Amino acid sequence: MNERDSLSPAAITKALETRFVGQRVIYYPSLSSTMEVAKREAQGGAAEGTVVLADEQTAGRGRLKRVWLSPGGSIALSIVLYPSLANLPSLIMLASLAVVHSIEAATGLKSQIKWPNDVLIKGRKVCGILIESDVQGNTVNYTVIGIGINANLRLADFPEILPIATSLSDELGRDVSRLSVIRHLLVEIERLYLALSAGGSVYQEWRDSLVTLGKRVRVKTGQATYEGVAESVGRDGSLLLRGLDGSLSKIVAGDVTLRD
Ligand code: BTN
Repeated sequence: MNERDSLSPAAITKALETRFVGQRVIYYPSLSSTMEVAKREAQGGAAEGTVVLADEQTAGRGRLKRVWLSPGGSIALSIVLYPSLANLPSLIMLASLAVVHSIEAATGLKSQIKWPNDVLIKGRKVCGILIESDVQGNTVNYTVIGIGINANLRLADFPEILPIATSLSDELGRDVSRLSVIRHLLVEIERLYLALSAGGSVYQEWRDSLVTLGKRVRVKTGQATYEGVAESVGRDGSLLLRGLDGSLSKIVAGDVTLRD
């Protein structure tokens, strides 16, 4: 890890070109999970855009109840938002697009999205996104977007994820500035979120960035495993899968493995 890569709140917020995302940063050198602290903050009415950031997480959480590895050198942060119910499905798209844009802006690396919101470089996962919301009736009390990026990690040190994961530093052969990636990310999230709130859409760009469409895939949901061709995605973020028997299934959450 690059010792000079300080993640202090002051370094992140200094002249940050956002109105609210990242204007308040709560930083921990080590934390169980930024999700839990961000949720507590949201329940206490924290300002929209509050960011909870940790240098390392000791109990990072992934989608589908998996563990998320985030040792020192990673980027692990959660952002508190108060979106409308109508915009909730678009946050999956918004967050992954913001990651793709910020990785390219900060490092020059090109990445793609695997449905629903894994970010890959050359087919290997570099970032995972976990979105948790508290919804009562038609009211979204809060949403927390959790983003984990393998920034300065030597994947050779983590054999358990080596076959499926990569890191920014492994791709570039040098450490990256986590500060730069985070600052670009916060600006991008706010830009896309404001566009969404003003009636814009991120659907088309997200759809165009998906590596999944047209590919033969296996999708594991909590209950079942599906095989087929990823035919399309809905505006609600769901995946439309053409099964081997010709049937069409709509899948709202799951884990995709590309088969070809
Ligand atoms: C996944 O791909 O399964 C989602 C991984 C999400 C990881 C991030 S790291 C910051 C935030 N805190 C957590 O405990 N999880 C998310």
